[in-house]
Formats: sequence, structure tokens, C-alpha cells
Amino acid sequence: MLKGKTVLLGVTGSIAAYKIAYLASALKKLHAQVHVLMTENATNFINPITFESLTGNKCLVDTFDRNFQFQVEHVSIAKQADVVMIAPASANVIGKLAHGIADDMLTTTVMACKCKKYISPAMNTNMYENPILQDNLKILRRYDYEVIDPAVGYLACGDTGAGKMPEPEILLQYILKEIACEKDLKGKKVLVTAGPTQEAIDPVRYITNHSSGKMGYALARAAMLRGAEVTLVSGPCAIAAPPFVKMIPVVTARDMFEAVTSVSEEQDIIIKAAAVADYRPLHVADEKVKKQDGEMSIELERTDDILKYLGEHRHPGQFLCGFSMETQNMIGNSRAKLEKKHLDMVAANNLKEAGAGFQGDTNILTLITQNEDVSLQLMSKEDAANAILDKILSVCKEREV
Ligand SMILES: Cc1cc2nc3c(=O)[nH]c(=O)nc-3n(C[C@H](O)[C@H](O)[C@H](O)COP(=O)(O)O)c2cc1C
Repeated sequence: MLKGKTVLLGVTGSIAAYKIAYLASALKKLHAQVHVLMTENATNFINPITFESLTGNKCLVDTFDRNFQFQVEHVSIAKQADVVMIAPASANVIGKLAHGIADDMLTTTVMACKCKKYISPAMNTNMYENPILQDNLKILRRYDYEVIDPAVGYLACGDTGAGKMPEPEILLQYILKEIACEKDLKGKKVLVTAGPTQEAIDPVRYITNHSSGKMGYALARAAMLRGAEVTLVSGPCAIAAPPFVKMIPVVTARDMFEAVTSVSEEQDIIIKAAAVADYRPLHVADEKVKKQDGEMSIELERTDDILKYLGEHRHPGQFLCGFSMETQNMIGNSRAKLEKKHLDMVAANNLKEAGAGFQGDTNILTLITQNEDVSLQLMSKEDAANAILDKILSVCKEREV
């Protein structure tokens, strides 16, 4: 995922320094070239050998080290960098960078970097809330550093409050957002729907389906990594929301209709991967329906057809992609849906094919557009999401010609 990308990690004298070993390792596993720059004080908290073993690169601490790989090491490394993450960033290093002080390898190299720079403050709450530190962060923001807000929690000093470095997994997400993909959706607004809906029968029971939300969440994440501004309207799902997307949680088909139509007008691309209930109970009992002898039946009414509404109210240039989950006549039914609902594309999957459909981590899609049906192989939902986005972009490009 990060092949050919170079990440600089700046580590300073904070107890959180040990957590960056995980980040360095995770980046390496994603095939990034990782260089770790440490302040002299940081070496009291974690040994450079740890980073050297994990990254395969010399850990840089001393600006005047003559055992160099490159001519002027700090400048060479700065030129190679695609992104810099200073984490944990001490109050001291924040102060130095804000005021142009470059008196060690880390600060000198960072000042020579022209790429995106993240700074993740980590310190005691009183230090973090100190107005001098806050002013220094303001200065850094003004100079295009992106400051990652620290978490609130139990700190190593025993206090509880703001100042905790976010977990390395979260820092990794910031790096991926910046460098993982070509930003071919930059400037585009993308709305994705995902998951099932739940339609109440009584306060205890509801009607739903087996949708896990995995396909929609993969689409939201892929679009975000490709630079889009993503809104995700999601029914109840057991998986974590993708980072850096605007999440609108909903429960019923009615909620989903309202959430989608409240933001649909401003979208460039809408992808409806949610498995919305077609019917809901006509009457919802106020109290639990008690068991009785014999059979019972529930009268159902149609829910709003969100896709149909979107097809009828789309603005010129808006791309509308629906999903269809079929158990028979997949292509015929999906093409009929494309025509009837005025869609640009239907991503069809057959529930009866092994590896396709609900719950699993893979899918087998056929992408149906006005001109053609493209059958894709079995692939991860992440790859399927990117294939859908590729197809959307290629159809949009054809239209421009
Ligand atoms: C055990 C211990 C933990 C520390 N944790 C932090 C911290 O989380 N954040 C911080 O800004 N300073 C912390 N300090 C103080 C810094 O290490 C000190 O300001 C040092 O000069 C920073 O050097 P550097 O910015 O060059 O790495 C800690 C000091 C000690 C002894």
C-alpha cells in the first residue's frame, strides 16, 4: 500500500516514545521506507536500535554524525520524505519548531521538509494547556503543520486530562490519508450508504437483514483515501467507522431517507450500498406483543424508495450508483433497476455465489452501466470498492469527452 513512499518519524523525549515502535513496524509492513529521527533526549526513552531493527534504516540522532549514508544527511532525507509525523512531540520541540530553532537532527531535518507535516503533542495536561504551548501550536498551524489533537485520558504522570498521544493505529490512519493513494477524487463530495436498517415490530423486536456494512464502509474508506470528502449514512453495524468520514448513524429506512435526502443535493457521487428494508410493519406496538396460541401475521407497508427518489431528483453531473443483491436473474433484474431508477451504475452481486454478498470480506461484482456489463473476479471488499470508484471515474471521463 505504501510501496515507494518515504515516511519520516520524529520522536522526542516523552514517555509515549515507545509506542512509535508499533507505528514504525506497521509502516514497514505496508512497504513504506521509514526513517526515524530522534532527539538526544528521546534516546532515554527508547533505544535507537529498536527503530533500526524495525525499519532497516539508521536511526538519525546526531546532525554531525560522520558515519553518513548521504552527502548532507538532513537535507537528503528531507527531500525524500512524502510525509513527516512528529510523535510524540514534546513541548520543547514544538517551541523550537514554532520559532525556527534548528539545533539538532530532528528539528533541522523537519525545517528542511516541504511535504505534509503532522505534529502530535504529548505531555502533561498543565503543560498542554499552558498558553505558551497553545500559542506555539497556533504558529505551527499557521505554517501548515497539521496538529493532531491529543486524546483525553490517564497520563503516565498519574493525572487525567488532555495531552495523551493518540494510539499509533490512529497516527497510522493520518499517514495513510495523506500518502496511501493517488488523490483522484480530490474536490469531490461522495455520499455512501451502508448496513441494514431495523424496522420495529414492538419495543423488543424488529425486522432487518444480514448486511454487515462491510462493502459500504470499504467504499467510504477507499473514497476518503482517494481524497474525497465523504459522508457515510449507516444503519446499525458492528464494525468500526472509517476514519476521516462524516458519519450519520441511522436506524430505520425512514431515518435513512431523511439523512440521505438532507445532503444528497451537494454530492458529486452517491453510492447506495445499504440494504434498506423494502417493507416495515404498518403498526408498531407500544408494548411487547405477547405470545399466543396459533399463528400470527404482521401487516407490512412499503418504505420510501430512496434510490428512486435520488434518480428523480439528481442534478446534472451527479453520479448515482446503486447496489443489487439478487438470488436469480442477476443481470436482468439489475439492468431493469438501472433503467427504472435512472441510475448510472448498478453494482450487482449474487448472494448464492460463494465469496459474494453479505457478511464476508470478499465480493464478486458485476458493474452494470448504460453501455456494458463488467464482471469482476472474486476480490476483497477493499479491492471491489476501488474497482467501483475506478469505473465511476472512467464513466465520468467518457462523458466529458
Ligand atoms: C519521565 C519523563 C517523561 C517526560 N514526558 C514528557 C512528555 O510527555 N512531553 C513533554 O513535552 N516532555 C516530557 N518530558 C520532558 C522532556 O523530556 C524534556 O522537556 C526534554 O528536554 C525534551 O527534549 P526533546 O524535546 O529534545 O526531546 C519528560 C521527562 C521525563 C523525565
